[in-house]
Amino acid sequence: MSFRGKNAVVTGGAGGIGLQVSKQLLAAGAGKVAIMDIQDNLEEFVKLRAAHPTQSVMIVKMDVANKKGVEATYEEIAKTFGSIDIVVNVAGIFNDKEVQRTLLVNLGGIINSTLSALPYMSKDNGGKGGIIVNMSSVVGLDPMFIIPVYGATKAGIINFTRCLANDKYHARSGIKFVTVCPGATMTDMFTNFTEKIIFPETSDETYRILDRLNKQSAADVSRCILSVLEKDKNGAVYVIEGKRVFPIELKPQWTGKEQAL
Ligand SMILES: NC(=O)c1ccc[n+]([C@@H]2O[C@H](COP(=O)([O-])OP(=O)(O)OC[C@H]3O[C@@H](n4cnc5c(N)ncnc54)[C@H](O)[C@@H]3O)[C@@H](O)[C@H]2O)c1
Repeated sequence: MSFRGKNAVVTGGAGGIGLQVSKQLLAAGAGKVAIMDIQDNLEEFVKLRAAHPTQSVMIVKMDVANKKGVEATYEEIAKTFGSIDIVVNVAGIFNDKEVQRTLLVNLGGIINSTLSALPYMSKDNGGKGGIIVNMSSVVGLDPMFIIPVYGATKAGIINFTRCLANDKYHARSGIKFVTVCPGATMTDMFTNFTEKIIFPETSDETYRILDRLNKQSAADVSRCILSVLEKDKNGAVYVIEGKRVFPIELKPQWTGKEQAL
């Protein structure tokens, strides 16, 4: 896939990994990029527009947990851009003490954004098809005791995205679905980490684990996300670790052929 002239939506694009994805998509020639984020980052947005004067950068302040708001945002983006080719759903939070909010933003936000994009991308609705990349985490694959709520949302994202990556749906919609699972990455997500875990007695252990982790940069992760977009493989799940990206195989556990009880 070439990014030249493509139109993209990036949720969580005001900071961390999402901002790097927005920057790198524009640098790779994307025609129009819409950033949907709950917060502003005026300094970075001014710089982005100045660096890409002939490309279009649309900023929408929106909470991805707000289903109706996200639907209206996609309507506005589609009207302004004409079409949407790429969606990278990055927005997410870490705070295991705020269970409802974590579920609504991390899992609900990915579902809201993905489902809202489909009518504008699907070939059976006049769209051109395209690709949606959803942000999970290595802790959505491997349980990590200290962050069970966050981990549960990230596991849900993998299943949701793999469900949609269905051959028959792809044949009529032309849309591909991919999941990325980065390991530890240096961003604001780690700020006040030990205040946001539900077992404070594990905070010493948590610090030791965090110190030991070989953290990659947000720009490294973003480069891997762009290479995943280029690979364009429906249903793929990738780990992004130590600046490297590699696909993983998730084998079926259920054959549907078990004996009657
Ligand atoms: N940092 C890591 O180690 C790591 C590892 C694996 C996966 N991830 C995932 O990567 C994604 C980005 O995280 P990051 O590390 O760049 O963190 P970050 O905090 O730097 O960036 C998150 C971005 O999402 C936005 N956001 C948060 N809640 C939102 C909402 N309700 N609606 C819209 N936007 C919202 C924030 O404003 C921010 O711009 C998250 O989904 C996170 O779970 C992070």
